[in-house]
Amino acid sequence: MENSTFYVKSYGCQMNMYDSEKIISILENKGLKKNLNPENADLIVFNTCNIRDKAAHKVYSDIGRVSKSKKKKTIAVVGCVAQAENYEMFRKNKSIDIVLGPQSYHLLPLMIDDLNNNPNQINTEFIINEKFDYLSEQNKSQGVSSYITIQEGCDKFCSFCVVPYTRGPEYSRTLESILNEVSSLTNNGAKEIVLLGQNVNAYESYSGKYKIQLSDLIKSISKNKKVKRIRYTTSHPINMSDELINLHSTNDKLMPFLHLPVQSGSSKILQRMNRKYDTDFYLGIISKLKKVNPNIEISSDFIVGYPGETEKDFNETLRLIEEIRFTQSFSFIYSPRPGTKSSLENDDTPMKIKKTRLQILQEKLKNIQFNFNKTFIGKKLEVLIENQSTSNPEYFFGRTPFMQPVYVKSLDLKPGDIINVNISTCNHKSLYATC
Ligand code: SAH
Ligand code: SF4
Ligand code: F3S
Repeated sequence: MENSTFYVKSYGCQMNMYDSEKIISILENKGLKKNLNPENADLIVFNTCNIRDKAAHKVYSDIGRVSKSKKKKTIAVVGCVAQAENYEMFRKNKSIDIVLGPQSYHLLPLMIDDLNNNPNQINTEFIINEKFDYLSEQNKSQGVSSYITIQEGCDKFCSFCVVPYTRGPEYSRTLESILNEVSSLTNNGAKEIVLLGQNVNAYESYSGKYKIQLSDLIKSISKNKKVKRIRYTTSHPINMSDELINLHSTNDKLMPFLHLPVQSGSSKILQRMNRKYDTDFYLGIISKLKKVNPNIEISSDFIVGYPGETEKDFNETLRLIEEIRFTQSFSFIYSPRPGTKSSLENDDTPMKIKKTRLQILQEKLKNIQFNFNKTFIGKKLEVLIENQSTSNPEYFFGRTPFMQPVYVKSLDLKPGDIINVNISTCNHKSLYATC
């Protein structure tokens, strides 16, 4: 495969985006060249997501499209669908050459080399520490705001979710390897570090006999003078320790914005989902956070139409949204996933009702977000500039401490600048500003 080119497509969460960057480095180190056009590439890597039915199906239609092209291609399916569907993938689509689960990307070069001997290559083992040891050496510069996976996997087993099956048990990287990667990212210009994990606040490692938790890790990262902003995502409410909550008052680099998925505002549904908290517990965490830092803003994920969700349960979710006033969120209609506990439950709510509920919920979230953005018009906000707009070079793109996207009209900014801008206008998604 020397002198060949490759194309990588990512689906799903930020962890897949991070893994894709690492896969790109692995392939470039092997002598392959990145190709932005899938038509001409020799190797296509699909880094897949299995979280909802739609995401999982998408990869098969994409494989269908690329395998029709004239040029003969090697097709590798990696990520969470590869892990979940395993050998079944070769049966469903004959053009697939490699099936590789999320914990074994370091094996990709060997598998490519071995295709001549064995045309159907597969590896779906959970050997996560090997992955991190190997991948941490694949340092790819990501830019001003850089992601770094510090924790992977999940032991929570929410009854609707495939992640514990596709990513395996919770595993945390060592402090040393994370700090090394942070240094290498900041030496390449990173100003903001976003710590990633399926349960990032369940992070736990040992330095000698000392236990290191997420709050300790954040304190250590803050000591790097080149790091100006720190974020972490995604957190689970039951792992919000007091140390972590208090850090939102004492650590200036930790941004006042937290993605803390609640899923539903009905304690009955939360129990059925096996989320391990009820609405009062969630509200308690938010009030502790607001007490230590009144400026903190919260975002969430919501599942609408979980089996057994009544109109009353749904209204409880709307009430919770009204109370917390989430400033950004993701919301989905429940999708039954093979192998999960809830896929066996009786679900008699018609799809039409679920769709209407999703629409009502999204409309509410959108209004709250719009009203929140409007409160900044005529005021100053700090922005970290990430890049210059390619379509309209008079504008620079950046983010506020609350993750709002901002377009700043200016001719003399550069990526990495942290400046106070004047907010002139907004819509529900973005802010527009001048210097
Ligand atoms: N670890 C995170 C979420 C990871 S998955 C947490 O515990 O919050 C991202 C989001 O996808 C979830 O928060 C949930 O809202 C949604 N999701 C997961 N499984 C789903 C399913 N079967 N149907 C619909 N949405 C789902
Ligand atoms: Fe899935 Fe629940 Fe684990 Fe989040 S905590 S990844 S929703 S099982
Ligand atoms: Fe999807 Fe796997 Fe992420 S299922 S959301 S890519 S952990």
